Amino acid sequence: MDCSLYLVLLLFGFNWSTFAQQTSGIPGFAQECMWVNGSRTCSDPCSNYIVLDQPWRSTSYGQGKNCDSDKRGWYRFVGQGGERMPEACVPIYKCNTDAPLWLDGSHPNENAGIVTRVACAHWNGKCCQWSTSVQVKACIGGYYVYKLEGTPTCSLSYCTDPNYTENPCSQCGVDEECSLMNGVWSCRCSQGFNSSDISSLKPELECGASQIKVYLEKCVLKELGFQDVVMYLKDNRCSGFEERKNTTVISVVTPTQGGQCGTQLTKNDTHATYSNTLYLGNGIVVREDEVKINFQCSYPLDMETSLATAIRPIVSSINISVGGTGIFMVKMALYRDSNYTSPYEGSTAVLSTKDTLYVGVMVTVGDMSRFVLKLVNCYATPTENTAGPLKYFIIQNSCSNPRDSTVSVAENGVASQAKFSVQGFGFLGDSKQVFLHCEFHFCDIHTEQCRPHCSRGESRQAAVAGEPNNVLHLGPIALRAGSESLAGAASSHASLGVWITVLVAAVLAFPLHEFA
Ligand SMILES: *[C@@H]1O[C@H](CO)[C@@H](O)[C@H](O)[C@H]1NC(C)=O
Ligand SMILES: *[C@@H]1O[C@H](CO)[C@@H](O)[C@H](O)[C@H]1NC(C)=O
Ligand SMILES: *[C@@H]1O[C@H](CO)[C@@H](O)[C@H](O)[C@H]1NC(C)=O
Ligand SMILES: *[C@@H]1O[C@H](CO)[C@@H](O)[C@H](O)[C@H]1NC(C)=O
Ligand SMILES: *[C@@H]1O[C@H](CO)[C@@H](O)[C@H](O)[C@H]1NC(C)=O
Ligand SMILES: *[C@@H]1O[C@H](CO)[C@@H](O)[C@H](O)[C@H]1NC(C)=O
Ligand SMILES: *[C@@H]1O[C@H](CO)[C@@H](O)[C@H](O)[C@H]1NC(C)=O
Repeated sequence: MDCSLYLVLLLFGFNWSTFAQQTSGIPGFAQECMWVNGSRTCSDPCSNYIVLDQPWRSTSYGQGKNCDSDKRGWYRFVGQGGERMPEACVPIYKCNTDAPLWLDGSHPNENAGIVTRVACAHWNGKCCQWSTSVQVKACIGGYYVYKLEGTPTCSLSYCTDPNYTENPCSQCGVDEECSLMNGVWSCRCSQGFNSSDISSLKPELECGASQIKVYLEKCVLKELGFQDVVMYLKDNRCSGFEERKNTTVISVVTPTQGGQCGTQLTKNDTHATYSNTLYLGNGIVVREDEVKINFQCSYPLDMETSLATAIRPIVSSINISVGGTGIFMVKMALYRDSNYTSPYEGSTAVLSTKDTLYVGVMVTVGDMSRFVLKLVNCYATPTENTAGPLKYFIIQNSCSNPRDSTVSVAENGVASQAKFSVQGFGFLGDSKQVFLHCEFHFCDIHTEQCRPHCSRGESRQAAVAGEPNNVLHLGPIALRAGSESLAGAASSHASLGVWITVLVAAVLAFPLHEFA
């Protein structure tokens, strides 16, 4: 990538094209010449061609009725379907036709000029039932042009190979150009880009859900004198690298997490902001005047982001494999208010009877394009044991408990998250703690009724038999009387007996079968 080397290459390129012009009278070399009105004119097919960009020319495309009988002249294939003809027999009924045409022979290299090959059409069990001649030239820039002569019959199509992605010049960045070195085309920084102004260094920032990336154009760095660029973040173990797929830039990444790579997290009511500094040096010697670039990414706080930014949020999670569609991760967390953006933190949430508990359940990993999250049953128990005799239902058969007017289901069966709230369990008196359990179901929006039909007062929906639901468990949640202080709650540990008595009194108001 040295500049002087690059100059030599340019001269080589120049010589080559001069040679091509001098030899333009030789048919079959780099140019195509013909007699027009008594005089001989030549042109380079690499700059005089018609573009064929139909994606259905791809060998991965199925049957169709296209016939290329009218395709006569120089053509270049571009686009997603592929940029080159396949060099092997293509199965019939591909490329949007009956009999696909493929190139029986290899593509020429850049020095070969115009070569003649045979295109074969596969039909009737024969890979070459029909054939026609095709002229091919490899052009500066790594692409090919083909002189087609229609088709021997219909329906035949010229196919493209979607696997061929080796056009090296399509990878070049805006400040790069394609040049030849040892017979291989590659991208090099353009000459004449001339700047010593550090402000021409325009770092790009990508704020992702799991990582933040900053990247810089390699050519600009070179131009600014960073021949041997060193790049790192506040924690210098996070350093710059060249991506395999995109060599025009140098990137450095940090996970979207406070503390990682020296990244700092700050929060206000609505946003979480991650910030860090990128240091840029030349060689391994770090100087005082090295370049520093501060950057930050802000994310609006939602149920999930607020969990990611919380210190030890009270959260439980479960990984579920949904047949054939991959792994899903579901989380359940407790929030302080109806914005569902301030999760309870620490080891235990302490609530009074006056507090409302906000519960959010969300899918954080997995493709939810087909599913929505439907809470089926959510209930509280006095111990971790869900098989015990005491269960207080908050949501049952996807609807709020009609006898508890403090229950409000804000979202259920409509998205990849669900949320509900319930007032602190007043009937529990000065008891110790409760555990929360939610059974949920991935509801297939194409085949199931996902949005629950609930109406207060009426008898609730019949229980749906079927697959057992997945269950999330959360707790303990410590309870204290509304007027009591935290210290008071801490001193009331001995009253479990009272707690259960009160709970039983309260649950007796329900039909007994609910507490099986
Ligand atoms: C050839 O000559 C004819 C008559 O002089 C003219 O109409 C035509 O445009 C010429 N063709 C080209 C390609 O110059
Ligand atoms: C393209 O690649 C796929 C998978 O690697 C292969 O099955 C297919 O045969 C290839 N197609 C051509 C035209 O080479
Ligand atoms: C390389 O990354 C830059 C910046 O994202 C982008 O503009 C360019 O198109 C990428 N090149 C390739 C070949 O993906
Ligand atoms: C590059 O910039 C410097 C200073 O601005 C100038 O002297 C030089 O001629 C420029 N070179 C080119 C090739 O434009
Ligand atoms: C919270 O932070 C975001 C992002 O930095 C900012 O746009 C917003 O104005 C801030 N809100 C308040 C209330 O400070
Ligand atoms: C779920 O899977 C992730 C990644 O595979 C793993 O880090 C996590 O510990 C798992 N969680 C549970 C509850 O199994
Ligand atoms: C919820 O967010 C809105 C807008 O950010 C704010 O005005 C409101 O006070 C918040 N509510 C609570 C209960 O914090």
